[in-house]
Amino acid sequence: MKTYLSLSSPAEVETECLVVVALDRTEKDRTEKDRSDDRNGKNRGDRDKPEASIEASDSAIREAARDIVGSGEVTGKIFETTLLHHPAKLKAKRLLLVGGGRAKNFSAFELRKMAGTAVRTLKPKGVRSFAFVAPSNGLSAEERVRAIVEGAFVGDFDPDTYKSDRKDQRIDSVTVVATGDQGRLQKALEEARIIGESQNFTRELVNEPSNRMTPTMLAEHAKKMAQEVGLKCEVFGADKIKEMKMGAFWSVAQGSDEPPALIVLRYEPAGAPEKPVLGLVGKGVTFDTGGISIKPADGMEKMKYDMAGGATMIGVMRAIALLKPKIKVTAIVCATENMPSGKAQKPGDVQIAMSGKSIEIINTDAEGRLVLADGLYYARQLGCTHLVDAATLTGACGVALGYVNAGVFANDDQMYERFNKALGKAGEKMWRLPLDEEYKESIRSNIADIVNSGGRWGGAITAAMFLKEFAEDTPWIHLDIAGTAWMEDNKAWIAKGPSGIAVRALVEFAKDFAA
Ligand code: BES
Ligand code: MN
Ligand code: ZN
Repeated sequence: MKTYLSLSSPAEVETECLVVVALDRTEKDRTEKDRSDDRNGKNRGDRDKPEASIEASDSAIREAARDIVGSGEVTGKIFETTLLHHPAKLKAKRLLLVGGGRAKNFSAFELRKMAGTAVRTLKPKGVRSFAFVAPSNGLSAEERVRAIVEGAFVGDFDPDTYKSDRKDQRIDSVTVVATGDQGRLQKALEEARIIGESQNFTRELVNEPSNRMTPTMLAEHAKKMAQEVGLKCEVFGADKIKEMKMGAFWSVAQGSDEPPALIVLRYEPAGAPEKPVLGLVGKGVTFDTGGISIKPADGMEKMKYDMAGGATMIGVMRAIALLKPKIKVTAIVCATENMPSGKAQKPGDVQIAMSGKSIEIINTDAEGRLVLADGLYYARQLGCTHLVDAATLTGACGVALGYVNAGVFANDDQMYERFNKALGKAGEKMWRLPLDEEYKESIRSNIADIVNSGGRWGGAITAAMFLKEFAEDTPWIHLDIAGTAWMEDNKAWIAKGPSGIAVRALVEFAKDFAA
C-alpha cells in the first residue's frame, strides 16, 4: 500500500473516494434543563435526535453531505459508514462518511480504527485507492496523519492466504489530506508507513500454520528481513543451545523432531551510546501441543500463534532498522515446537537453566516461561541493560483481562511509566498486573529452586514471577499477549486473525529510549 500526503483542499482532490470523519455532537447543545427533562420523561422526542458533524474545514464537503446529514441518516456513531456517489462539487468520485463516535471522546485511538474501517469498507467494493481527510479536531496534525496511516495498514491485512479463490483485495494507495508543515507531515507519514508495514509483517508470520512456520522457517524469515533492512542476524541450532547450557530452552525443544532456533537480531547504529542496550526477548513456540501434559483437541489449532511474541520482536526490529533511532537494540527469539514424544521432557523432570537455577517441571504445557528464562538470561549476558519480553504466555491472562487489554508486568516503575507513555502514543491497550513477593510462594519447589507452574490461581502473575527470577535486577517488562495476539472476530477496522499487538508500542518505546 502506497501512502501519499496532500495539502490540497479536500474538494480539489481527485480520488476514487474521499473519506471524511463524522462525529456525534448530539450532546453538544444540550442544556442541563434538557438533561433533567430527559430524566423526568419529558423531551422524549428529542432525546435521540442525532446531530452529526462533518469534520472538515472545507465547506464544499459539508455542502456535499448536507442532505444526507440533514436527513438524520448519519449519526456519527462509531464505525457507521455512509457512501455517496458523485458528491456535488467535489472532484472525488465518491464520498465516504465514517462515524467516529462522541465528539467529546474522540482521539487518535478512534481515528486509527476509522481509517481501518474505511479500508475494510472500500476494499470489497473494488475501490483501490482513497483519500482520507484528517479531521479538524484537537489532535496535532502529525498525530492525525500518523493515526490514519497506521490504521489503514491495520485494516489492509487479510488472513485468507491459502484460499484458492483469494480475491487479493488490496488498497493500492492511501492519500492523507491534511494541513500543516509539509516536511513534518511527510515525516510522520513515512514513519507511520514503516510502523504499519512492520506490524503487518509480524501478522503475516503469526498467521502462517506451524507446518509452514517451523522454527527454521521463522529464522529464515528473520534472516531475509535482516538482510533487507541492514540488521545483523545470527541463528543458533540445537548444538549451540546445548553448548551454552540453555537447559530450560532445550528441555522444550528436545521433544520435537523440528530443530529449534535461537534467533539473535542486532541493531547497533553508528553514534549510539554504549548504554542503554534494549533487549527484546520473544517466545517463539511455533506450535504448542502442551507436550506430555497435552492440551485438549478443542482449539488446539490456535496454538500456531504461540510464536506471536517472537514475531512481534522481529517486526519491531524491522521498524527500528528503518526508523534508525540512536539506541542499541538486541532481539532474541527462542523458537521451538512443544511436542510430546519419546524424547519429550516429563512432569517431575528437573532442568538446569542457563543462569544455573534448577527448575522442577510440573506441567510441560508451561513451556513459554522455560524458553524465555534462557532468552532473558542470554540477553543480559549479551549486555542488554533493559529488557522487554513478549509472549502468548498464559490462558490466565486472557481470563483476567479478556481480549481488550494485554497484561503488563514490570520490576521497575520508571521503565513501566515510559512504556505506558509509549502505549498511549501507539494507541494500544495493556493493563499492569502485580508482582508482589508473596506470589513467589506459588512457585516454590521441594526438589529444585522453582517449579514451572504455579497452578490456576493468579496464573498470569505466577508465570511472570517465574520470569522475574531470570531478569533478576535488570529493569524488565513482561507483556503477556495470549488474549490479544489473535482477534477472535472480524471487526469493522480489523480482520479476525493475528492482531500484531505490541509492535507499535515497542517501536515507540525504543524511539523514546533513544531520545
Ligand atoms: N501458549 C499457552 C498459553 C495460551 C493459551 C496462549 C491460550 C494463547 C491462548 C501456554 O504455553 C500455556 O499452555 N500455558 C498454560 C500454563 C499452565 C500450564 C500453568 C495455560 O495457560 O494453561
Ligand atoms: Mn503451553
Ligand atoms: Zn505456549
